Amino acid sequence: ANNHRRGTTKTMTSPTKDGTVVVGNPDTLEKKKAAIKFAGPSKLQVIADFDATLTKYWVNGSRGHSSHNLLQQGNPEYNLKRQKLYDHYHPLEFSPTIPIEEKAKLMEEWWERTHALLVEGGLTYDDITSSVANSAVAFREGVIELFELLEKKDVPVLVFSAGLADIIEEVLRQKLHRSFKNVKVVSNRMVFDENGKLVAFKGKTIHVLNKNEHALDMAAPVHDHLGDAHGLNNDTSSVKNRTNVLLLGDHIGDLGMSDGLDYENRITVGFLNDNIESSFDDYRKAFDVVFLECTHLCLTQWTCISHK
Ligand code: TMP
Repeated sequence: ANNHRRGTTKTMTSPTKDGTVVVGNPDTLEKKKAAIKFAGPSKLQVIADFDATLTKYWVNGSRGHSSHNLLQQGNPEYNLKRQKLYDHYHPLEFSPTIPIEEKAKLMEEWWERTHALLVEGGLTYDDITSSVANSAVAFREGVIELFELLEKKDVPVLVFSAGLADIIEEVLRQKLHRSFKNVKVVSNRMVFDENGKLVAFKGKTIHVLNKNEHALDMAAPVHDHLGDAHGLNNDTSSVKNRTNVLLLGDHIGDLGMSDGLDYENRITVGFLNDNIESSFDDYRKAFDVVFLECTHLCLTQWTCISHK
């Protein structure tokens, strides 16, 4: 059902209904907001996770696609194989009972096996273009306006994802209908041969629980799928000098996205999309602001509208 409802901003100890925004410590948040405002846009950067953070967790009543599961390879047998891995590992990803080291090993195993299937199954760049066109991926309301505002103010946005960089860039191209010079993607990047066929992945695998180890990758230049450097200012020092951070994520591991930075003020916003009851306490302690099952990204008002 398309149930539009106005959410509220609250200090709470237990989760209530959808579309609620929870601020654990409003005084701390207000102080951070004031400090960030005072320093101005030249000191600010935004670091955002992609799947289920910038994009909706629910799309038309069903789970929205992630950069991984929107992919339809030409070879359907391999889609099935990847789906089987998803069915096994995804519940483990959000399990509140598996110890973190054990979970990190499981996630690494999942990512390695999926990447291997993509290469083995002969994924092509054309598969990516058509998969994105047919996908159920939707940005949360407010994302495009946020990107536009940040572009106007020359504030860089780092999209830091354990998904697939080439897919995310194609989603940005197709779904936002324009490019943003201030938006850069750090994620698992593919290597294609001259026929547009995937042959390998670049560098060390980024999964949901090792983002902290890759936080400095944000310094690397951005290249598009044709290998051309593009987009934003690649001057590392300019990003390092931006010591105020707005961090958006849907996983507690996303907090590690800013580990490479010696930040002064950091506001963290967590989207709690699933396992609401069991994870609420952890999220409330970990993030300054928690959005419960929201589809909106109304960061200025800290309120949102839920329409699951
Ligand atoms: P992100 O939140 O950093 O964008 O994480 C990527 C998501 O991709 C993560 O929630 C798990 C998901 N995923 C799949 O859907 N299929 C896969 O094969 C793999 C490895 C991950």
